[in-house]
Amino acid sequence: SAMQGDVLAKERRDMRQQEAQAKAAQEAAKTDLGQEWNDPMVQSGDRRFASDLRQPKQGGADAEVPEWKKIASGKGELGKRTSMSIKDQRESLPAYKMRKQFLDAVRQYQLLIVVGDTGSGKTTQLTQYLAEDGFANDGVIGCTQPRRVAAMSVAARVSDEVGCRLGEEVGYTVRFDDKTCDRTRIKYMTDGIMQREILLDPALSRYSVIMLDEAHERTIATDVLFGLLKKTLKKRPDMKLIVTSATLDAEKFSTYFNECPILTIPGRTFPVEIMYSREPESDYLDAALTTIMQIHLTEPAGDILLFLTGKEEIDTSCEILFERMKALGPAVPELLILPIYGALPSEIASRIFEPTPDGTRKVVIATNIAETSITIDGIFYVVDPGFVKQTAYDAKLGMDRLQVTPISQAQAKQRAGRAGRTGPGKCFRLYTESAFQNEMLPTTIPEIQRQNLSNTILMLKAMGINDLLGFDFMDPPPTNTMLTALEELYALAALDDEGLLTRLGRRMADFPMDPALAKSMIASIELGCSEEMLSIVAMISAVQTVFHRPKEKQQQADQKKSRFHDPAGDHLTLLNVYNGWKGAGRSDPWCFENFIQPRSMKRAEDVRKQLVQILDRHRLKVVSCGRDTTRVRQALCSGFFRNAARKDPQEGYKTLVEGTPVYMHPSSALFGKAAEHVIYHSLVETTREYMHNVTSIEPKWLVEAAPTFFKVAGKDGMGMSKRKQAERIQPLHNRFAGEDDWRLSSQRK
Ligand code: CDP
Ligand code: MG
Repeated sequence: SAMQGDVLAKERRDMRQQEAQAKAAQEAAKTDLGQEWNDPMVQSGDRRFASDLRQPKQGGADAEVPEWKKIASGKGELGKRTSMSIKDQRESLPAYKMRKQFLDAVRQYQLLIVVGDTGSGKTTQLTQYLAEDGFANDGVIGCTQPRRVAAMSVAARVSDEVGCRLGEEVGYTVRFDDKTCDRTRIKYMTDGIMQREILLDPALSRYSVIMLDEAHERTIATDVLFGLLKKTLKKRPDMKLIVTSATLDAEKFSTYFNECPILTIPGRTFPVEIMYSREPESDYLDAALTTIMQIHLTEPAGDILLFLTGKEEIDTSCEILFERMKALGPAVPELLILPIYGALPSEIASRIFEPTPDGTRKVVIATNIAETSITIDGIFYVVDPGFVKQTAYDAKLGMDRLQVTPISQAQAKQRAGRAGRTGPGKCFRLYTESAFQNEMLPTTIPEIQRQNLSNTILMLKAMGINDLLGFDFMDPPPTNTMLTALEELYALAALDDEGLLTRLGRRMADFPMDPALAKSMIASIELGCSEEMLSIVAMISAVQTVFHRPKEKQQQADQKKSRFHDPAGDHLTLLNVYNGWKGAGRSDPWCFENFIQPRSMKRAEDVRKQLVQILDRHRLKVVSCGRDTTRVRQALCSGFFRNAARKDPQEGYKTLVEGTPVYMHPSSALFGKAAEHVIYHSLVETTREYMHNVTSIEPKWLVEAAPTFFKVAGKDGMGMSKRKQAERIQPLHNRFAGEDDWRLSSQRK
């Protein structure tokens, strides 16, 4: 085994705990709200459990149940779901002890920061306390979440606790999915939705309280809301703002929010023993699965949580693990393997919350959604490979790109902490201690400092905020990032040459999607193909893919898919699928026969309806181009001209903007075809950069679509045929790309 029990771990852990407690005590002293931290009961409780740590038992499957586990399953978290009433469950949460102090503080101050460990009841309880205390009597209690899955699952949980149907007194709104009504008093939503609501009503007059939840995640939308809500509070002295965080960097928050008080919910965490890899792991996936098998076979009872970076990795791991368990035969205890990631249907996702049956062990394989957003009870072991997939701006490609990057020390600590919620736990870090100390950043760089901001800036401009440099950011984005975004919006004609919002730009801001897609949508109206573009945009926005490709029937599925292939590429292929489905009466049997996912089609239809509503609001027409789908491709160019690539004589393609090599994805309708010029919707990095959703184009469309961005090579085109000119188009200016490189390198360290 590459794992090494770390003798110093306990000492370090104690030191860390003391540090954390000292820091917390300091914070508590700043206000009179956090006395609980100084309560000797809380601290001695932690110490008592610290001495209960045991060595792993060999052959743990039939080992006696250790004492701490009995305590845990008797009256701790494990027994909750099955035996405790909802009232008892709610009152057992750490937040409950602070209920009165919390409500007093909200009444006294307009702004309040609440800090508490993940799982202490911030998200599910604080909103209910407020409603119970009358704060929802003349206004809605709104609570933002950085992730849509969290907003949906938390709303479901709270409606259960309140005893209403989801969508009535308790509901949620996420992009393209609104489960609220007039009676809704507690509304969970993504931070992106809240941003859109401020665009429509800067005073947020429907709300009595806003809770910016999971603020430690520091998404762009949350960061922007910080600044926007500070303004709203001045206009709305009756409104309350609560900012919650799972980490202890609350002082920074307080400083930013006019030195507002911090309420700390005392923790109820148990010590977690940290194990590091002795050597760097060459294959973290394999190391992770081996570690899980080891835990399952040799460690005492307790569920396992493994952090991986994304859907593919998680699905593959689940399969491999399942096969490995099967190979061991019936002699070993059962291992329930449960995936969780953002795109998972909610019915499957909710299975992770069900208690583990006796005699079995559960392993939850999750993205970093399980780091803070979602709490799973009964986890005693955490396996942490140390990576996360996050988007970062890539200057070479001129766009955001998902990249697998090392996590920060703060994330590593947060992950480890997940093992100590039910009892003392263990965290297996699949990296060396030296990598933790020397290679990981202390804290994660906020999104706003590493991602493309064109979306955000368009939104701020639409709110009438023109002085971006003067905007009250907690951590301002680098000036270059803002300039790049302004350039991009200018090329899209969303801003004029003075940087002011154009009419087109204002319209684009009303579409809840990337500016490029919004631009294509609007361009399609003038080009007379909005009927078609609506379907394409809906299909792209609704789901990752509508095609079903089961392992055993890949060939058959590919063959069915190829019947939809359009010679001009994937966008029109999606249109063919949508029209085929509609023509077949939207029937499920048609879907099964054609290896299309019926659920995805219904979702696309739903999104399409909502887009039609936006067009209606702007009195924009839905018109069809019939068979003249050339127009659709031209409309796509007007949004995606940046994502243009040209076939390379050697192999693959090169982007027009930077000449970066990119490749046709094998699933594309254009794979193996001779398309000379293409545009793509996105890039997916696996072994290479693959273009996803690709359409063949004529280069002159690019010049027509973005005259300020492209020029024709050879100045006036002297001595060149028109065709030659059109083929030699080059980006006009990309002057900020080079200067942006520093961001990438600081990101990679
Ligand atoms: O927001 P915070 O992390 O402080 O805690 P929470 O999300 O309010 O969770 C409080 C408790 O509710 C935890 O013990 C969760 O396991 C439980 N919960 C649940 O069972 N199902 C959910 N969908 C959400 C929370
Ligand atoms: Mg929470």
